Amino acid sequence: MAAERPRRVHLALSVGRPAGQLWRRKDSRVEEAFSLSLLSDVARAAEDAKFDTLFRADNMRLDPSRVRVSGPPHHLEPMVVLSALAARTEHIGLIGTASTTFNAPYTLARQFASLDHLSGGRAGWNMVTSTVGEENYGDQPLPPKAERYARAREFVEVAVGLWESWQPDALVLDRETGVFADETRIRPIRHRGEHFQVEGPLNIHRPPQGRPVLVQAGRSEEGRDFAATHADVIFAAADDIGGAQAFYADMKDRARRKGRDPESLKILLGTHVVLGATEADARALEREWVDGIDIGKAVDYLQTVVSPHLRLAELPLDEPIPVTLLEEAEALGDERHQRGASWLRTHHRGTLRQLAVRHRQNSLHLGFTGTPEKVAGDLAALFRARAADGFVLSHSHVPEGLELLTRGVTEELRRAGLFRHDYEGPTLRHHLGIA
Ligand SMILES: Cc1cc2nc3c(=O)[nH]c(=O)nc-3n(C[C@H](O)[C@H](O)[C@H](O)COP(=O)(O)O)c2cc1C
Repeated sequence: MAAERPRRVHLALSVGRPAGQLWRRKDSRVEEAFSLSLLSDVARAAEDAKFDTLFRADNMRLDPSRVRVSGPPHHLEPMVVLSALAARTEHIGLIGTASTTFNAPYTLARQFASLDHLSGGRAGWNMVTSTVGEENYGDQPLPPKAERYARAREFVEVAVGLWESWQPDALVLDRETGVFADETRIRPIRHRGEHFQVEGPLNIHRPPQGRPVLVQAGRSEEGRDFAATHADVIFAAADDIGGAQAFYADMKDRARRKGRDPESLKILLGTHVVLGATEADARALEREWVDGIDIGKAVDYLQTVVSPHLRLAELPLDEPIPVTLLEEAEALGDERHQRGASWLRTHHRGTLRQLAVRHRQNSLHLGFTGTPEKVAGDLAALFRARAADGFVLSHSHVPEGLELLTRGVTEELRRAGLFRHDYEGPTLRHHLGIA
């Protein structure tokens, strides 16, 4: 029987834009923000440091009022970016975000199967139901969450059915007999459902991983149930270590109750880090980041995650938000605002200015500042406390932020015996230790 693999930290690098206005630094390479040269260097730095995977977040809209200070939060399309990076890397995973609300299952199944083949088994799909973007996909309002998750459940069942529509031995490639593939080992799925009618089979043979790694980032009851059923990896967001531990325990328990091995479900915590070679450097960098934040815009951005009933712009900046107003907003808010309202309630002692800046910095994730040694210690503490199996990290800027994160933090985690020295196998599933 294979030796029990020691529990190790899993790391995903979120490949996005620099933090705040750090793009204004002269060596920020901002001119290459939309080019393969910078993306490739970031990807290779993460691969050299043996990160499990790259992660490309996404949503399908742009609020022009948010581009002035730090550019579009999501721009180049994930599948295109990850396909290009597949050709410039060898081992690191490639997880891309794609919506189950604004896509068709046959198309996405093809795209992720193609990425898995072209990368030799390194593809992963962050399945989101999208909370924004409906204005770009017709004139219908965004379906309510329950309906979006019902569609998502059917969507992933169709996609998995399509990936498995070729039996593992369907591809023959026998030069002697001239048989390329055995049609008797390829089956239509004939799916007839409430949201989709898909005949199949897929026109690509079974992906190297069998199926790409399935990722989900839900927090609601529907999101958690969907993840416990279908996800290999969950991207989690927490306000504090207690919240992270509670979410971790709940998800492992849900997986167990669905007859799954809880260790087959990895929970990676979204975490923002600000690193410096010294504590003073890290604090100075954070200062530079915060000083670049336009407080008016930060309050507007915070307003997007809380109920419009709570008019933040009318409240005094340097005073806490009255708890009564927070409770009222939580009661009146719709599903898009629940997360923001609970975050505000958790941090209600902060002034509006502090909350707006913190949200601008870390959105609704945990954040750590300091030297690689100190931050690796913070991450190790969360890992050992069963608050996470790993982390979704993003570098604040290039070159130092990336260097200190990919080299510095991983070196410290290795020194603590918590991170790999080399990749365990060719596929993303090998890296994550999931079948
Ligand atoms: C680390 C992390 C990354 C996420 N990335 C995306 C993303 O790229 N696109 C997106 O639309 N939502 C993203 N989300 C939001 C989730 O998909 C989800 O909508 C949110 O957590 C609310 O969960 P719920 O759907 O259960 O309410 C992310 C969440 C987390 C924690």
